[in-house]
Amino acid sequence: MTGSDPDAVTTARLLVRPPREADRGRFVEFFGNEDFMVFAPGVLAEEEAGERFDHMVAVCQTVPFGKQPVVERSSGLVVGYTGVDHIELEGETWLEWGYRLVPERRGLGYATEAGRALLAKAHRTYSGELLAIIAPENRASQNVCHKLGFTFWKQAPVDGDLRNLYTLPVGEPTGSPR
Ligand SMILES: CC(C)(COP(=O)(O)OP(=O)(O)OC[C@H]1O[C@@H](n2cnc3c(N)ncnc32)[C@H](O)[C@@H]1OP(=O)(O)O)[C@@H](O)C(=O)NCCC(=O)NCCS
Repeated sequence: MTGSDPDAVTTARLLVRPPREADRGRFVEFFGNEDFMVFAPGVLAEEEAGERFDHMVAVCQTVPFGKQPVVERSSGLVVGYTGVDHIELEGETWLEWGYRLVPERRGLGYATEAGRALLAKAHRTYSGELLAIIAPENRASQNVCHKLGFTFWKQAPVDGDLRNLYTLPVGEPTGSPR
């Protein structure tokens, strides 16, 4: 709960840190829960959920702002995640920013608070453009995305569904490809 993890970033209410093995059970539960996975293609069975957790761990080993647990400092509970994963879109590989909180911790500004803190790390460690993919009807997510500084790029089909795409340049402008 304290900032003893050197890779953790802290805010007034939250700690955002890379996943550790002790988080596995919590995330397997999250990925299998319909409320947690709202606006996702579906819930994951236990084995797939475990693989998704392994993937989070692997991404965080190479990307300091990979999808990682958001811990509520007052309770010590993992209340969701934020950060990036790799995604293919229109023939390019992107870093896609995402966030997801347990229902009872939504509407408190946590996604914005955690996102700003982890984005500061992205600005320090990476140069390039981040992508966000949001269902047009997901107002809360779009509000968070705007508050994090993303700007609307376009609407486009993603896996067959129309999505709003947003981008955010981070780090030093290099002019290099995404
Ligand atoms: C999206 C999500 C992470 C937002 O987290 P959060 O901590 O509740 O977000 P914040 O409190 O920082 O901000 C949410 C903003 O959206 C607004 N909002 C919340 N629910 C809303 C709704 N149903 N319709 C419109 N606006 C809504 C809030 O008022 C707030 O705006 P404000 O700062 O202008 O008041 C959270 O709702 C969640 O986990 N949703 C389910 C998973 C999900 O949709 N993830 C994103 C997939 S692209």
